[in-house]
Amino acid sequence: MIDNRPVSYSGVQPSGNLTIGNYLGAIKNFPIYSEQYKCFYCVVDQHAITVRQVPAELRRRTYETLALYIACGLDPEKNTLYVQSHVPAHTEMAWMLNCFTMFGELSRMTQFKDKSQKHADNINAGLFTYPVLMAADILLYQTNVVPIGHDQKQHLELARDIVDRFNQLYPDTFTMPEPIIAKSGAKIMSLAEPTQKMSKSDENENAVVRILDAPDAIMRKFKRAVTDSDSEIRFDPENKPGVSNLLTIYSCFSGKTIEESEREFDGKGYGDFKAAVGQVCCDKLIPVQEEYRRILADKAYLEEVMKKGADEASYYARKTLSKVRRKLGFVNL
Ligand code: TRP
Repeated sequence: MIDNRPVSYSGVQPSGNLTIGNYLGAIKNFPIYSEQYKCFYCVVDQHAITVRQVPAELRRRTYETLALYIACGLDPEKNTLYVQSHVPAHTEMAWMLNCFTMFGELSRMTQFKDKSQKHADNINAGLFTYPVLMAADILLYQTNVVPIGHDQKQHLELARDIVDRFNQLYPDTFTMPEPIIAKSGAKIMSLAEPTQKMSKSDENENAVVRILDAPDAIMRKFKRAVTDSDSEIRFDPENKPGVSNLLTIYSCFSGKTIEESEREFDGKGYGDFKAAVGQVCCDKLIPVQEEYRRILADKAYLEEVMKKGADEASYYARKTLSKVRRKLGFVNL
């Protein structure tokens, strides 16, 4: 079957601690996405080792990440789900792209600067060339769109510069990838500081609700959510960021509009309101959590998914790789 859909490519870090912000802002829309695009989702274990990892934990989190995405509705029959290190074309392509990426460009990457500060005892070459491996991920699949968070915009800009440079020297090699910065999905804010985005790496656990949080923890976190000193449940992000964030979360999980939600809580107190938000969140997440546990227990199934994904991905990656090898003057046997 000829697949003419444009290609969407996503890299996901192997960590099981995704938040309801990730869920409502992106993951929930995956099924709609895979109608429109040929979607690749890659668990980027090779990117993960640019900082020190405990091997057993990295392995466990690779399974967990895959299980969680499937539990959230990512269908392995309709999407290509795979693990980066299972497709060696990524590192092979990364080497070639390294030779078309400038030291100066990589020196300007803000994530590199941040991570070098955070891991001052381990500023390795992989950390430095991280964006090149990311470019290789994207370019191998002749990707049209890359859904990313704001923090990855600079890396995508670099990938685009590499495409420009490469295609100028060797015309028609790579497709120019466009970023999609999630604006269709909801933006969920921290429960503790509702003017800031909910971040999965927030040190204050009360600020974030994770997809895999136990239901009583979810209820408790919403109960403690920061609101304001009046008592009106009204959507007004500027003056009432906490209440507005809770209304957004309620509306996303319940499928009701913001106006309907406001009306539903008209005249009610913050206590009842927060409990209702916690409840609707639990109602939606409990089935996901059950499915997650079921899938995670089935290692053989997960490995089958990984294997099938790696085969599919390799098929596409090999085509680009052999084209690039030819263009560069390598002998293809
Ligand atoms: N660097 C991305 C992050 O930390 C993960 C990633 C790796 C990625 N390769 C990618 C994202 C390719 C999009 C496309 O979030």
